[in-house]
Amino acid sequence: MSGTKPAPLVGELRVPGDKSTTQRALLLGAVAEGETLVRGALRAGDTLSTAGVVAALGARVAWEGDAAAPRLRVGGVAAPASAALDCGNAGTCARLALGLLAGHVGHWTLTGDASLRGRPMRRVVAPLISLGARIEPAALDGSFDRLPLSVEGARLQGGRLEIELPSAQVKSALLLAGLRADAPLTVAQHVPTRDHTERLLPRFGVRVQVEPGAVTVHPGRPRAATLDVPGDPSSAAFALLAALLCPGSELWLRDVGLWPRRTGFLRALLAAGADLMVLRRRATTALSFAGGTAGAARETAGPVTLGETAETRAFAGPPDDDPRGDLRAGGSTLTAFDIAPEDVPDLVDELPVLALAASRARGTSRFAGLAELRFKESDRVATTAELLAALGVPVQVRDDGLEIDGVAEWREPAMWPVFEDHRLALCCAVAAISAGWDLPPRAALAAGEVSWPGFAEALGALRAG
Ligand code: S3P
Repeated sequence: MSGTKPAPLVGELRVPGDKSTTQRALLLGAVAEGETLVRGALRAGDTLSTAGVVAALGARVAWEGDAAAPRLRVGGVAAPASAALDCGNAGTCARLALGLLAGHVGHWTLTGDASLRGRPMRRVVAPLISLGARIEPAALDGSFDRLPLSVEGARLQGGRLEIELPSAQVKSALLLAGLRADAPLTVAQHVPTRDHTERLLPRFGVRVQVEPGAVTVHPGRPRAATLDVPGDPSSAAFALLAALLCPGSELWLRDVGLWPRRTGFLRALLAAGADLMVLRRRATTALSFAGGTAGAARETAGPVTLGETAETRAFAGPPDDDPRGDLRAGGSTLTAFDIAPEDVPDLVDELPVLALAASRARGTSRFAGLAELRFKESDRVATTAELLAALGVPVQVRDDGLEIDGVAEWREPAMWPVFEDHRLALCCAVAAISAGWDLPPRAALAAGEVSWPGFAEALGALRAG
């Protein structure tokens, strides 16, 4: 029901484990020698799909612990079993599995749900074929660009490959293929993208060299690893925005991954004037804010240097390190902010929630360079615009960008446009909670289970008063 004042969100929360890390831990663990232990793994729709794939390959998968502290064990196999693999909604699983399996002996068919079967695969298939992979459409009227695809294990060559697309999944699929190549494989990418694969491979005993714009992987069988997965920053973004939009909130998110390639959304929210604080975990030292310490963040809500300054490079540590920290958000008045094409790879999954933030920021926000957003779980340029329009926000889609006029209050939608996309579903929950409305129907929120099961309940429990 409209018109109710939103309650402040007060307290602390541990967001679910990082999805990108958990997916890679499952896939690497499946072929590693020994048993991999993943503490804090994400147990949600996408990682359950990947766990199913990994089990079909013959690896032993066991979930332990409870929802608050999930643990995952993966017992790897030297020779993955030939099988039909259903990747569900998980694009990372499908694309990385193509690379992982291409150099093994066997035969696999990969498919997924209707959304995943509509997503482009040529981006990984073409470079894998250039290494010697044998990948073909698995349906009579199929294409190299869509699931279902079949993979027949083949001999792969090392060497050097340039990839134009700013995609971490493409880079990662090639690096995983490189584990089975006949010589080291260098994957060059001009635009830096999320770097979980090159951070994790050394943890699995694989030799990797990282230089600006290129990663080289040396072939060899991974060895089992023990990992502590921090909270997923992409999930954290939803909880943060809900707190920013509920006056009087004070929300702490504990132990969130702060890889430089994942923190672009924090820079964007700070540029919008958000009352945010980032504390490095362990040393509990404040990250460097423009004006000094984290304690001064409220006054200096300027550009927080969570990017690539000398200081944060030191903070990020060696490539196999997992930077993490605690985030605090307080109720804020936001002002319009812009996203430039070069910002996009570092916040690619946060665009819908940042658009929701812009819809409540004073002034006009302009987001540019969103072409890749059209190939996510939904066409997120179009579907995000539809969500904002349903909330009564003036929004224009221009080329591959969005122009959003912030409003003081949203209009309660009669129908929640979710498009079976988890990030849209979580945006709907954030909107309802921060407007003080009833939650969207369960069926609309269900898509959110892909990355954060029980999100609305977890936030609802923090409502004060
Ligand atoms: C991911 C990379 C990104 C991101 C996806 C997860 C990953 O996709 O959108 O949710 O784990 O590597 P692209 O590599 O296609 O940009």
